[in-house]
Amino acid sequence: MCGIVGFIGKNAKTQIIDCLKKLEYRGYDSSGLALINNKDKIEIIKETGFISNIENLSNNMFDDLEIGIGHTRWATTGKVTKENAHPHVSNNGRFAIVHNGIIENYEAIKSDLSHKGYTFSSETDSEVVAILLEENAKTAKSVIENIKLTTKILEGSFSLAILDTHSPDKIFATKKDMPLFVSAGADFASIASAVVGLPHDAIQYIMLENHDIAEISLNTIKVWQNEEMVDRRVQKITKDDLNHTMHNHKHYMIKEIFEEQVALEKTAEAFSSLKPSAKKEILDLFASHKRIHLVACGTAYHACLVGASLLESIGFDCSCHIASEFKYFPPNLNDKCLCIFVSQSGETADTIGCLKLVQEKGIKCLSITNVESSTIAHISDHLLMTKAGTEVAVASTKAYNCQCLIFYLLTQAISKNNQVISIKNLKIDKILQTINQISKLSQIIATFKKVFFIGRGLDSLTAKEGSLKLKEITYIPSESYPAGELKHGTLSLVDDESLSIVILTQKSTIHKTMNAVSEIKARGGFTLVVTPFDEIQPNHEIDYVFHLPILKNEQHYPLISIIPLQLFAYFTSIEKGINPDKPRNLAKSVTVE
Ligand code: F6R
Repeated sequence: MCGIVGFIGKNAKTQIIDCLKKLEYRGYDSSGLALINNKDKIEIIKETGFISNIENLSNNMFDDLEIGIGHTRWATTGKVTKENAHPHVSNNGRFAIVHNGIIENYEAIKSDLSHKGYTFSSETDSEVVAILLEENAKTAKSVIENIKLTTKILEGSFSLAILDTHSPDKIFATKKDMPLFVSAGADFASIASAVVGLPHDAIQYIMLENHDIAEISLNTIKVWQNEEMVDRRVQKITKDDLNHTMHNHKHYMIKEIFEEQVALEKTAEAFSSLKPSAKKEILDLFASHKRIHLVACGTAYHACLVGASLLESIGFDCSCHIASEFKYFPPNLNDKCLCIFVSQSGETADTIGCLKLVQEKGIKCLSITNVESSTIAHISDHLLMTKAGTEVAVASTKAYNCQCLIFYLLTQAISKNNQVISIKNLKIDKILQTINQISKLSQIIATFKKVFFIGRGLDSLTAKEGSLKLKEITYIPSESYPAGELKHGTLSLVDDESLSIVILTQKSTIHKTMNAVSEIKARGGFTLVVTPFDEIQPNHEIDYVFHLPILKNEQHYPLISIIPLQLFAYFTSIEKGINPDKPRNLAKSVTVE
């Protein structure tokens, strides 16, 4: 989590702040920057809270400086305090560093350095890096050698940007298991944790490999791997990579929900434009493997549940796994299995850990991700891209629908079903036209102390995602259950302070799902049914109804029944005065295990 940037060129401070803002989704509890001044000394500004705080603090300061690094933090080791905010500086003031990742052996290093007389001013794991650089500078013949010596001692994961006042026109960078991108333009050079965090003028980038050490100066990037200078592939930045504006929307989340139709169209288009050889390779995987494990976290895991249900319906034997469990308690894996990894960011540490584990066992894997420059896209054997475009809001919305869509498209292709799903026929625009009704229902949802989401079959999967969205950005305790499971325990929580949101899109489940509604009503609970069925109207058991458009194919409802639930979460969050884009304690890209 955390985002790091570095910039060399005019207006370095402003550029660093602008780039940090684009990485704020990676963590936003504190931020800071370090600049080298005209006397080759390091200037530091850091503060808790959003990046706007360091922007205000540094107003009219350091505007003439041309080199610096910056950081936006999601606390892992050490509380959210100004002292723990990055950058961290060595005792002698020579080195400043920003770090993304976790140094697992930092306590041992800290104790060793303390015995040598060094002092620490933060509780973080990261500070040891700055001080180790100072210690190793005593013996290293060059900064590059120093960085090599220093990172050799570190266990865990890191991407690092380093300022050294003895090389005041350079930024040094290195990484292990955390992403880092470098870009140089006509009059600037920069680094960032994600392509989106590079300056607006950047047109190309290189992705550093593990243990690369980059020496970045204006117009020149040198990369070393094991003492040898190496060339890394230069990749073009696409418009989508840098799409990072809210246009006329108040928040990224609502903008991203409104982009769902286009995102689905682009994803479908990219799938149908796959080269015949690439498509064949993927279809061959399914032809030769009937046992499938699907692995992901959070929302992406919920997309796997939908995917597994679709693949099961055409004869595959599927299991879904939460990545953080899979890595340490893997199922019986052998070469008869195909593993599918799903990740919007392509940087989720839990999912990457599983992918590597599976690759070590020589098992075939296919990944579905939204970020072409991500680690998962880089290391996967086979890849399918969602084309949701940049997703900035912490709560995933458009990426989820696109992940589900990939499974629909795959299932159609595998079963040679020529009836390709039509995005227009999903009638998403009809749902977006009911925004006022959704907003009014959200005012009601905001009054409840707890909210349950229930449904049967495919609807129970949408219920899980709806519940996660709501709790994530409204802080209302919420759980989801297959409707029939409620009476096996959770019904004891139902009372007149609870709302149950019932997803009901599958005709064959109407009768039994309505039994659950009766059971809830009999315990004084309130009910809101989300359904396309006209005959379902408010009555003595149903307090509220939201009508979905009618689709020809019932199996397609998961692609749209989630949209009102995403909107309920959004408007309820607004109603409660919460910023839906930046819910407390969370970050968009979870790059630590
Ligand atoms: C919830 C959400 C998270 C992510 C999860 C996995 O709205 O966004 O649950 O789905 O952290 O992230 P990715 O898909 O980037 O691997």
